[in-house]
Amino acid sequence: MTVFKTKKELQNFALAAKRSGKTIGLVPTMGFLHAGHMSLIDIARAKADIVIVSVFVNPTQFAPNEDFDSYPRDFERDAKMCEEHKVDVIFAPNREEMYDANASTYVNELMLSRPLCGASRPTFFRGVTTVVTKLFHLAQPDFAVFGEKDAQQLLVIKRMVRDLDFPIEIINGKLIRDEDGLAMSSRNRYLSADERKRALSIHRALLGAKAAILADPGKIDVALHNAKAVITAAEGRVDYVSALDTETLEEPTAKTKHLIVAAAAFFGTTRLIDNEMFDL
Ligand code: PAF
Repeated sequence: MTVFKTKKELQNFALAAKRSGKTIGLVPTMGFLHAGHMSLIDIARAKADIVIVSVFVNPTQFAPNEDFDSYPRDFERDAKMCEEHKVDVIFAPNREEMYDANASTYVNELMLSRPLCGASRPTFFRGVTTVVTKLFHLAQPDFAVFGEKDAQQLLVIKRMVRDLDFPIEIINGKLIRDEDGLAMSSRNRYLSADERKRALSIHRALLGAKAAILADPGKIDVALHNAKAVITAAEGRVDYVSALDTETLEEPTAKTKHLIVAAAAFFGTTRLIDNEMFDL
């Protein structure tokens, strides 16, 4: 396994690999890897000649009041896990390498990035689409794998790839849960034992909403109200619990076939997200 710290090293490597007819699979991450990331890496490993994993805590997707500085980092551990899962290349630039001091160009998706996390984190998706675009140019992947845990991110990236004609396939990786049902996230490490127990209410709330909506699709509002109450009863601070059409991320209509019920809530100072996607 090779670790590249500079953009030029990665791009030269990737262009040479492409010229020699190799396929490249990219798994973008912010590090502090867990089983969810490893499942994405395993998808890439099964499909590509060369697997590249990026490990970069991307400053442009954090607002000034968010957890960029405290975001968990453990490169040694990440590298060991990547080695065990037969990754070929880790790309781990520092902030100065990735962004010029006077960088002034962003990529913006303007529809799917508006609701849900986009409403409470207005510059988040702009940071994600910008860094992912840069990673695509550097790693030259044939395909890239993104997890369904960050369902809105996945949809925004698919839309960006379609709209900007990137010759890259975007592959979904299933949301992976811990044994207790909590969606795996690097941020789970911030939770105290008590907060973690209470945070299980998010998944419980989403499952309750899903069952209620499937039983009576005419009463989505009641289902969402009850889901919020489940999280609030566990002393979580709800950011949103919403049910949207998965294709458009707009309010469902009579034509909606696929629904996403998504939630974001704070336990202590930790903001967690989770979702259930299902057919109506
Ligand atoms: O999902 C993440 O970890 C990040 O948003 C990503 C896609 C690596 C971009 O920084």
